[in-house]
Amino acid sequence: MCGIVGYIGSKSAVDILLDGLTNLEYRGYDSAGVAVNIDGQVELYKAEGKLQNLKDIVEAKKAHIEKSTIGIGHIRWATHGAPTTVNAHPHSCNCGKVAVVHNGIIENYKELRERLEKQGCVFRSQTDTETVAHLVASKYAQTKDLTEAVRLATQEIEGAYALCVIHQDVKDTIVATRRNAPLLVGIGENEYYIASDVPAIIQYTKKAMYLDDNQIVTLTPTSMKYIDENKNPLEPKVEILPWEPVALSKMGYKHFMLKEIHEQPDVVRNVLSGKLRAIDEAITLNEVTLDKDNLKNLNRIQVVACGTSLHAAMVGKYIIEQLCGIAVDVEPASEFIYRRTITDKNTLVIGVSQSGETADTITAVRQAKALGSHILIVTNRPDSTMAREADSLVPVNAGIEVSVAATKSYMAQVISFYLLALYMAEVKESAAKEDIQKLKHELIILPQKIEKVLSHKEDIQICARKFSGAKDFIFIARGINFPTALEGALKLKEISYINATGYTAGELKHGPIAMLDESMPVLSILMKGGVYEKILSNSEEAKARNARMIALTNSEDQKLKDLFENIMYVPEIDEMLSPALAIVPLQLLAYYIAEFLGKDVDQPRNLAKSVTVE
Ligand code: G6P
Repeated sequence: MCGIVGYIGSKSAVDILLDGLTNLEYRGYDSAGVAVNIDGQVELYKAEGKLQNLKDIVEAKKAHIEKSTIGIGHIRWATHGAPTTVNAHPHSCNCGKVAVVHNGIIENYKELRERLEKQGCVFRSQTDTETVAHLVASKYAQTKDLTEAVRLATQEIEGAYALCVIHQDVKDTIVATRRNAPLLVGIGENEYYIASDVPAIIQYTKKAMYLDDNQIVTLTPTSMKYIDENKNPLEPKVEILPWEPVALSKMGYKHFMLKEIHEQPDVVRNVLSGKLRAIDEAITLNEVTLDKDNLKNLNRIQVVACGTSLHAAMVGKYIIEQLCGIAVDVEPASEFIYRRTITDKNTLVIGVSQSGETADTITAVRQAKALGSHILIVTNRPDSTMAREADSLVPVNAGIEVSVAATKSYMAQVISFYLLALYMAEVKESAAKEDIQKLKHELIILPQKIEKVLSHKEDIQICARKFSGAKDFIFIARGINFPTALEGALKLKEISYINATGYTAGELKHGPIAMLDESMPVLSILMKGGVYEKILSNSEEAKARNARMIALTNSEDQKLKDLFENIMYVPEIDEMLSPALAIVPLQLLAYYIAEFLGKDVDQPRNLAKSVTVE
């Protein structure tokens, strides 16, 4: 959802900016741009479409552009204004001396624009961001101080922003600030980096400082000044980033998505490591601060999340209700925030988010916190806004996920829900010891089962090739695998653009069955357990309407061969844990279909990995 970068130091800025943007491309790819200062002139270079278009423009003038040792850059996911070159960041003011890159939304941009136009500002783009460039220019004209100009400008802005600003007259300075959008400063030897996210800077430095809301940082090659919104100086809280640059390599795989699918056995091992040691030892979740009394007094759990994280949360509902006997509601964060919610101090609110920066989820958990709820965050980014504001944390340890379509982070979130439910069940003594031990054992051996699926992909590839021409796809399941059906359908939609929908198998006959004919693939998720026979009957009903039937199963039942045109097998597994295994073939199915269709797997159209606007 837009990414920003900045560099100031003694090296040429442009390659650092372009490298940074390459590693932030998961945040958007509608357009890209950089601003540099060469011989006392601010120069902007922008291109619509993928970053490569900007790289081509820069390459043509490389000898000139590489002279600059200061610069800011942007990768855009369009919100206000079409994804054109004129709407690409950086934006500037009438005199062209200011350059601004922005992630977020300026909510009062219309009023600001009207006012600034009356004062003579000429707008070139349809973006909300351009108002900031004009505003900073006018404040600078009054104060002749860039930090103060940015500070005064942000006092008039409503909405969310991470901003990076340079000014032609203050040649050796970058000013950056944020409110409800992530921003960090990387610290080198007589050089500083700015970025929306770690991947942009990790190859240059591991020393960094996260900005909090309304804080402003002023960087020169040799200094970093850091103040709050009232100009009070602050002490930088420098951290060492816990990431390795290797996470950003495809390691020989054709796409990051395929690499990340294959990392899942190790991801499960990482999530379990140090938390589940042996079946007769209690689960340890060091950053969960709920004690026995807190848990006893809970009368409800509310989970909020978006996209793939929402599906992991839905699996979590089944597990927690089963093991802990507490009612769990799951709601998209974007719905939760615009109504009266009945959450209070006896409600545990769980926010689930790969990035920890999704605006809807941040707002939802903040609202719940204001109502007195304990906030527990399940996230892949312990350095994120959500994690930093949480009362309790379950870090999911999936490593950096680059592909826009989430796979390994979903796996890590689902496994984290098993750990959380087991932890609560042990504290509350709400489940039988044998059931707890059985589930722990299944979790420990899960990575080997996933490895088995990954080493026998032929059935999935055959199925992908055969059904890649489908216009629509239906996924059906019941119970704990209903979220698996939703997630399988979402993966397919996201990367192949085939219209795929997940239904509870029992609902098929209440409407969707009308769509079935010989052109419609129906994929049944048939895991052995309580609802197996029911799904089988629902599959018969679909077959009777001539649908093309595909099974994903762990059953050797011979009659499946008559009913299904294609069967994808997974190893034997307890029904309770089956979502963590069943999702893997569905991720691969979506991958192979998209790859067969020649789609841009890692950067599907219109999507961004981290959505930092509501
Ligand atoms: C975007 C991404 C999805 C992701 C969702 C929630 O829409 O494209 O893949 O599931 O955001 O992101 P989060 O970081 O909160 O899990």
